[in-house]
Amino acid sequence: MSDYVVTMEHITKTFPGVKALDDVHLHLKAGRVMALLGENGAGKSTLMKILSGVYTRDSGEITIFGNKIEGDLNTKQAQALGVAIIHQELNMCQHLSVAANMFLGREITKGGRLDNAEMNKQAVEQLAKLGIHDIDPDEAVGNLTVGRQQMVEIAKALLINAKVLVMDEPSSSLSNAEITEMFRIVRELKAMGTAIVYISHRLQELHHIVDDVTIMRDGKYILEGTFDELTGGNPDHMDKIIANMVGHEVTNQFPREDVPKGKKILEVKHLNAGKLVRDVSFEVYEGEVLGFSGLVGAGRTETMRAIFGADVKDSGEILLDGKPLNIYSPGSAIRQGIVLAPEDRKKEGLCTKLSIRDNIALPNLDIITLGSPTGRINKKTENEMIEKGKSSLTIKMAHAEVEAGSLSGGNQQKVVVAKWLARQSRVIIFDEPTRGIDVAAKVEIYEIINELKKQGVGVVIVSSELPEVMGISDRIIVMCNGKITGEVDPRNTTEEEIMTYATRFGDNAA
Ligand SMILES: Nc1ncnc2c1ncn2[C@@H]1O[C@H](COP(=O)(O)OP(=O)(O)OP(=O)(O)O)[C@@H](O)[C@H]1O
Ligand SMILES: [Mg+2]
Repeated sequence: MSDYVVTMEHITKTFPGVKALDDVHLHLKAGRVMALLGENGAGKSTLMKILSGVYTRDSGEITIFGNKIEGDLNTKQAQALGVAIIHQELNMCQHLSVAANMFLGREITKGGRLDNAEMNKQAVEQLAKLGIHDIDPDEAVGNLTVGRQQMVEIAKALLINAKVLVMDEPSSSLSNAEITEMFRIVRELKAMGTAIVYISHRLQELHHIVDDVTIMRDGKYILEGTFDELTGGNPDHMDKIIANMVGHEVTNQFPREDVPKGKKILEVKHLNAGKLVRDVSFEVYEGEVLGFSGLVGAGRTETMRAIFGADVKDSGEILLDGKPLNIYSPGSAIRQGIVLAPEDRKKEGLCTKLSIRDNIALPNLDIITLGSPTGRINKKTENEMIEKGKSSLTIKMAHAEVEAGSLSGGNQQKVVVAKWLARQSRVIIFDEPTRGIDVAAKVEIYEIINELKKQGVGVVIVSSELPEVMGISDRIIVMCNGKITGEVDPRNTTEEEIMTYATRFGDNAA
């Protein structure tokens, strides 16, 4: 009898045109956190959806707490065996209350009616077990931050007595404080004997919670070991893990290139928009990448949305190449040469039900119908555009006709970037461009950013990952509470200095 609570052996799974899993193994122990690592499209989410009964395997053996699973496993059975999953893209019912979400499909009734009082009570108890006392069970989930929604998902998992908890990229949209809080809860679950699978592309954070590592590549199992073995006990030594994920060594994680600073491209003067954009002024020059740092909620995204015409401006001026612009909608911004790759790819960046082709072609219809008096699509131009996006970003897909929503998270992000590369813009704003993107693909995106910079395009990136914003920008503006609180030279600063500006609330009280 092994001391594994879950074993998966020789698992295979094929989707039309893609072999997502090819002879994969996974072994979980009680009270330990297993990091499941691999590039975008490696098959991590697919493997975990099989374990939780969302997808059925083509072949292979699964044993959960000594029960060998004969035939297909469905979500109800997986739950009954103690497996819970928090999906990569949270899927809660935004308009339902916290308690209603926690008891969805397993509602408590009394005399044929919903027993809301009892469900609320139990919801509060479960949250309290996680040390969370300030979430109202009657609050609509949509009113909570993503971090809080995740806490609700974890509490929900505990409610079904999960002994195996899968967390698929839980940290990718959380603030630093929320990540710290989540880690605390993971440690608590661990102490309670829960086996946890933790999927993340933020390799720097693993050492806080991870005991074991399984690495996959291209749907195949590569290796398994303890985190200490693989890093030689030094969490900074991730080279071995990265090399096994990627299949080759990554020598330079942040390949910033120095380009002479040219003339001023964009000038934003005294921009005000709502509460989180207050008197924001800055300039972007040719040959530089301008980074925006700050805590979640500092107003960086709001600033970019106001510039792009996605939100209403209260006052302020935007000049491009010295000429004042009138931006009243995203369409008008795009036509005048400013584009934005938004942070929430599922909500704003992609039409998940449309094909990859349509996602790339749609915002560029002006280009692919150019010269046609009837607005007919020039198939050749369109094909070239798709091909260029696909090859310059190595999007992993069967073909351009598949639904964008079926791509792995990271590959979806690449499609968002691809559609903007297709047009000649003066300024490209990237809001969290590498969220959920694997280490090698990040480097590809940084290289594209370098390329744009060399071509004289003004590049602005908003990033919550300090190593990234420090590694790829030429100048960093720090925001706090809707205002610019500092500007630093990334070659000559520290994380501490940036955090000092990022938390300068006092100066903003006025
Ligand atoms: N429902 C689906 N239909 C078709 N193909 C799919 C489906 N789900 C996943 N795939 C494909 O299976 C492969 C593995 O995808 P998966 O989502 O498991 O990757 P991942 O390792 O989780 O990547 P990421 O880190 O980007 O989230 C990809 O090529 C993906 O496009
Ligand atoms: Mg995934």
